[in-house]
This record gives sequence, structure tokens and C-alpha cells, in this order.
Amino acid sequence: MEKPEKETGERHAARAEILSLSDTDIRFAAKALAAGRLVAFPTETVYGLGADAFNSAAVAKVFAAKGRPRFDPLIVHIARIEHLALVADIDALPLRPREKADALCRAFWPGPLTIILPKTREVPLLVTSGLPAVAVRLPDHDAARKLIELSTGAVAAPSANPFGGLSPTRAEHVLEGLGNRIDLILDGGRTGIGVESTVVSLSSDGEPRILRPGGLSREAIEAVIGPVAVSKEVSVKEGQGIAAPGQLPSHYAPRTGLTVHGPEEMAALPYRALEGYLFFSAASRLSWLQRRPSALPEEASRLIRTLSETGNITEAGANFFDMLHGLDRIPLSVIRAEQAPECGVGTAINDRLSRAAAAAGPQPPAVS
Ligand code: TXA
Ligand code: MG
Repeated sequence: MEKPEKETGERHAARAEILSLSDTDIRFAAKALAAGRLVAFPTETVYGLGADAFNSAAVAKVFAAKGRPRFDPLIVHIARIEHLALVADIDALPLRPREKADALCRAFWPGPLTIILPKTREVPLLVTSGLPAVAVRLPDHDAARKLIELSTGAVAAPSANPFGGLSPTRAEHVLEGLGNRIDLILDGGRTGIGVESTVVSLSSDGEPRILRPGGLSREAIEAVIGPVAVSKEVSVKEGQGIAAPGQLPSHYAPRTGLTVHGPEEMAALPYRALEGYLFFSAASRLSWLQRRPSALPEEASRLIRTLSETGNITEAGANFFDMLHGLDRIPLSVIRAEQAPECGVGTAINDRLSRAAAAAGPQPPAVS
């Protein structure tokens, strides 16, 4: 079908235009990016809100559209490992961190790994919030890579949600959260991994640190480069830069309040109308149901979600934001969420849950 308005590349839709992953649409979106417009696109983790990483004015629009404070730096996405030199000066690193960075990129790119490296002069300070280092990622998603390759080779992209909210795993989530503030959304369906990338930094003597747990597990990283430290929550002082603002104690939050519970506590929760339940597995849902004295009313099933029937951690990650978005659409008083096992992507799930709970503030007690 002909879409003549696209050929000008100038029309600013009041509501974002949804595009497919066809060659024509990706080319159109790439042109728009190169022209300084904002394009949301799928990756294997979550949807990103992209701008040309070399264009400060375009990058400024990303901060404005998300309502994101400028002290929270953006990840730059590249399409090929050979393009890393466009944005990062890996040779500026001392030998030990350079070797580890190299090993990580080779092992996990393309994939859900973001690595902090010295930036090149071409990357505007706005992208890195004034830091001398840039976060770089090579996504494992064909359409994303094609888009990046056909634009300027470097796309700055945070998750495509209003600041502090749930990350988007479908084009509809992007439309709902940012539809009036951005130009284009490439619709690639539901994302595969479902939680954001793991952000890793290396100290000058080569000590690796996970700044944000994510789709790549600590175990997988340690298998390649040995022991890795994990950052605790970062407290932020006004006007100061922070190592990883995704580490803000409150973030990734639904609009509905949320509380987090260990498996036993979850099983003991009373059923209350207007409360939503996010179970980790069918086993935990069944042990909760067994303790309910009588059959639950029909509408209760509408308020119950299970991250993975079989308790598969990867599947749980893929469903995590998607199910939270679903529960968040229902007018509930609170969402009661069960912690995941602390392994693989479970660490990232638990991290996001505790930040969502912190953002929500005090909630009605689970047991009264
Ligand atoms: O999977 C992902 O990482 C997604 C997709 C779109 O690629 N992106 C994403 O971006 O989650 P965002 O902006 O929501 O989270 C980026 C994280 C934040 O915690 C930010 O503070 C950290 O990366 N970060 C970015 N640049 C940094 C830098 N120069 N130094 C330290 N941390 C940085
Ligand atoms: Mg984000």
C-alpha cells in the first residue's frame, strides 16, 4: 500500500504512526532517525526510544519525551561490532579491562549486554550525562540492527516508556505511554527476553561490576570473565552524576501500588477482591489456591497471572513486564507479586519488583 506522506519524512503525527518491519518501513524509519526524529523500535529485550546518537538536538527530544532527568545517561546501540569504534575508544582502556571488555563483547554480542566504555569525541556529552564513558549495546534483533545500520550507525535509546514507568514489551505499550510525544513506532510484536539488558562496567584495574542486572545472567558473565561484583542501590544526591541511574531505588513501576512477597508469604495471602496477584509458577499459584477455604469467585481468575506455568525462569522474564502491564490496566487497589528464584533472569525480575515496590510507597497490609 502506498503511504505518500512518508516520502516527505516531515509530517509530525499528533499520534505516533505504527510501522511494520518491512524493508520499506525500516528504511523510512531510518531516514527519519537520520533527520533527527524519534523512532521507537523493538529489540530482543524491550522496546527502545531511538534518536541519532550523534545529534544532540535529537537526543534532547528523547529526554523531553520520556520526562527523563538529564543526569540519567542513555545507551548507544550499534549494528555491528566493527562500528564500536564510532562511539567508544576501547584502546583508551588499560590492558586488563580492555581484555575483559573484549571477551565480553565477543561472547555476548549481539545480545542483552550493555558495556560501559570510554566515549569518543563524536558522542555528545548529553548522551552520557556528562560522563567520559558511554554505555554501548549491540542488540540481537535483525530489524533493530537494520534500522541502526541504515540510519547513522549509532542510535541512543532508553526504554520507550515515560520515566520511572514499566518498560514496554509490545508496540501497544509504547503507543499507550508515549504515543503523543514521538513520531514513529516500529511494531515487531512482543519482545523475546522481556527485561532490559545487563549493564556492566569495568574499573581501571579490570574489576567487572554489574550496575543493573538484566537479560544476561551473572552466571553467564562469570563463566567468561570470572567473578563479578553487583552494585547495590545507589543513593542520589541532588546535582550529582550517578553510575547507573537505572539503579534508582524507585523505578520500573506500574501505576497501581505493588508489594513483593517470598513464596511462603505469597501462599498465605488472603484473597481480596480488587487485589491483583502475580505468581511465579503454577506450583505457587496452586499452593495459594489450596489454602483458600472455598472456590474463588469467577472474577478472581481475571486478577491472577502466572509468570511461567512450569517455573521456567526465562519464560518468566519474557512475561514479566507484559503481565504487569496487563494487571496495571485493571483498576486494582494493589498488585501482590511473588519473588522469583534468585538465578538467571530471576535476579533482574527481583530487582525490578523491589524498585516497583519502592516507587509505590506504603501499601495496604497483605495480611490483616
Ligand atoms: O535492554 C535495554 O538496555 C534497553 C533497550 C532499549 O536497549 N534500554 C534500556 O535503556 O533499558 P534505559 O535508558 O532504560 O536504561 C539504561 C541504563 C540506565 O540504568 C542508565 O543509568 C545506564 O544504563 N547507563 C547509561 N549510560 C551509562 C553510563 N555512561 N554509565 C553508567 N550507566 C549508564
Ligand atoms: Mg528504562
